[in-house]
Amino acid sequence: MKKSLKTFLKDSAKDYLNRSANPAIVRASTIYFKSIQELKSHQKKIAKGGKAEFFDYGRQGSQTTIALQRILNEMEESHQVFLTQTGFAAVVLAIMSVCRPGDEILISDCVYRPTQKLTSQLLKEFNIKTVWYNPNSFDDLKSKITNRTKLIYVENPGSNSFEFQDLGKIVALAKRNKIYSAIDNTWATAYFFKPIKLGFDLSITSATKYYSGHSDVMAGTLAVSKKVYKKVWWFNHVSGYRLSADDAYLIIRGLRTLDLRMEKHQENTKNVIRWLSKQKKITNILYPYKTSSKNYKMWKKYYKGASGLLGLIIKSTSKSSVYKFINSLEFFGIGYSWGGYSSLAVYNHKSDMGERKYFKLKKNHHLIRLHIGLEDANDLIKDLSKSLKFIKT
Ligand SMILES: Cc1ncc(COP(=O)(O)O)c(C=O)c1O
Repeated sequence: MKKSLKTFLKDSAKDYLNRSANPAIVRASTIYFKSIQELKSHQKKIAKGGKAEFFDYGRQGSQTTIALQRILNEMEESHQVFLTQTGFAAVVLAIMSVCRPGDEILISDCVYRPTQKLTSQLLKEFNIKTVWYNPNSFDDLKSKITNRTKLIYVENPGSNSFEFQDLGKIVALAKRNKIYSAIDNTWATAYFFKPIKLGFDLSITSATKYYSGHSDVMAGTLAVSKKVYKKVWWFNHVSGYRLSADDAYLIIRGLRTLDLRMEKHQENTKNVIRWLSKQKKITNILYPYKTSSKNYKMWKKYYKGASGLLGLIIKSTSKSSVYKFINSLEFFGIGYSWGGYSSLAVYNHKSDMGERKYFKLKKNHHLIRLHIGLEDANDLIKDLSKSLKFIKT
């Protein structure tokens, strides 16, 4: 019977063979074969691209990682999904699979800081040029395409600054110019937005965040189109990337409640923002909530929902009072890696943002990142209300 994604997430990876509600954690480096002939013919089948229930060596994965790939592939509506040991490894896998010396990458100015370093510093050593474009200007992106551009790389929304771009236009532009397109989709996950379905070739998600949902595992996923599948398969094959069976199991467990958690993050965030937007001490909220804003329109055009990560801009001549606001929060942990069950707060220093040409904070303005978790939203509001009093304006 046809089922919705919500039912699919509950129904997948059950192990009827072992009469278990959950898949087995298959840890193996050695995989046994009945004979040399069976081993050889299995290798041939895999080399031809045949769907494998198991591999010939543990580095390629096990029944547990295959089960996770199947769930993600269905949810992403992609050609295949690769698994990596961290979310950032999925960023590296995406870029390194398609870019070679002499190529240029057109990349939005607002990407995650380590992605900035990978492209502008490491890839430069390999003669791959990074060209930054303004995430608020499609014309700027368009004008920077050259006959060397191999990849357009987007992070949506922008890291810490939360700009939303016109993704459909970017995909069409890439296709017209025979350029590959990649997106870091960690903020929304494939539950709220499916980049491969829209036309992207590579879609990265840090599974450390919402897919895991419990802040206890690190992993990355890279969903790909048919067009780039072989290139990604090759780089993955020679780079030694893999995800352990134990971590894959934890992600499968997290995915069973992805829908419920994402909906709750969204609901709590809406409630918190409704309150925050009435506070005079908050200068700006970086989240798609103002229906008249460009960011809201771009989000609404492509996304089915919004997650729990947002930015606050606060004007104050006293940085220490802004620190005090964060330090005195009781239900918000101070730390990185959002997407888990709990609320978090961090102060975004200039060094966290990296070299941004197109995002500038005005003097005496401070950028704070909040992750709204699964706690009772009323408690979070009470906590914010009590702590906001410390900010000196
Ligand atoms: C948007 C985004 N992409 C990728 C990553 C990297 O993920 P991981 O921490 O799992 O390596 C992060 C981590 O914070 C992130 O915020």
